[in-house]
Amino acid sequence: MGSAQLGLVPDNYGSWWSGEHCDERWYGDIFALRREAHDHFIAWLAEAASPAPIASTLEVGCGRHKFYSEALKAYGYHGCDIAAPAIAACQERYPELGENFFVADALRDGLRGPYDLVFSHAVIDHVGDIDLFLTRLAAASRRLLFVSCYTGWQNGLDEHRYRWVEGRACFKNQISPTKARRVLEAIGCRDINIYPVPGSDALGAVITAVAPEHG
Ligand SMILES: C[S@@+](CC[C@H](N)C(=O)[O-])C[C@H]1O[C@@H](n2cnc3c(N)ncnc32)[C@H](O)[C@@H]1O
Repeated sequence: MGSAQLGLVPDNYGSWWSGEHCDERWYGDIFALRREAHDHFIAWLAEAASPAPIASTLEVGCGRHKFYSEALKAYGYHGCDIAAPAIAACQERYPELGENFFVADALRDGLRGPYDLVFSHAVIDHVGDIDLFLTRLAAASRRLLFVSCYTGWQNGLDEHRYRWVEGRACFKNQISPTKARRVLEAIGCRDINIYPVPGSDALGAVITAVAPEHG
């Protein structure tokens, strides 16, 4: 375990998700494994969207499961992912949303926008710079931010921990709630909430915030 930052991220980061094994079935299976996080997000969204309608949404690390592309069409759904095959599959399946799917490494590439809502599930657990990930997602939002992680609720951890897993070409992270809060406060986020995924026996964490004013 150690610290990581963008300059130290190996060049093969993310390549595993472009393999043929990451097909629609694989994405469906991992989506189902974290049902509590997805159920909680949908419940949160119903409340968060009630004061004013959400007209544009970006999912970071959308992969190729179908759920949000269909459930959030009325919220102006967009999806991006570092894995080009996943994005190509989404564009093929939803030609009417084709332009809304794009390949992007959230740490390095433009995320377009701004969107009313930027959200991400099970991606922050793998990136090489957690603080930059949060900062870039918040910068792409003009209103709401929702991030869930599945690698545990690490209350008491003062700094994030990173471990490179060569066989998966990604990091397996432990996210420090304290540090995540400090980062979001520093960039001007408001109403920051960081808590265990409800109903998951603390197997994951949720980060929500109101994005900073972008002037
Ligand atoms: C564990 S899967 C989660 C998929 C889906 N979000 C879910 O909750 O089931 C991680 C996804 O994030 C994508 N990803 C990983 N790092 C990324 C990055 N830096 N920028 C954009 N997408 C990334 C991967 O390609 C993969 O599709």
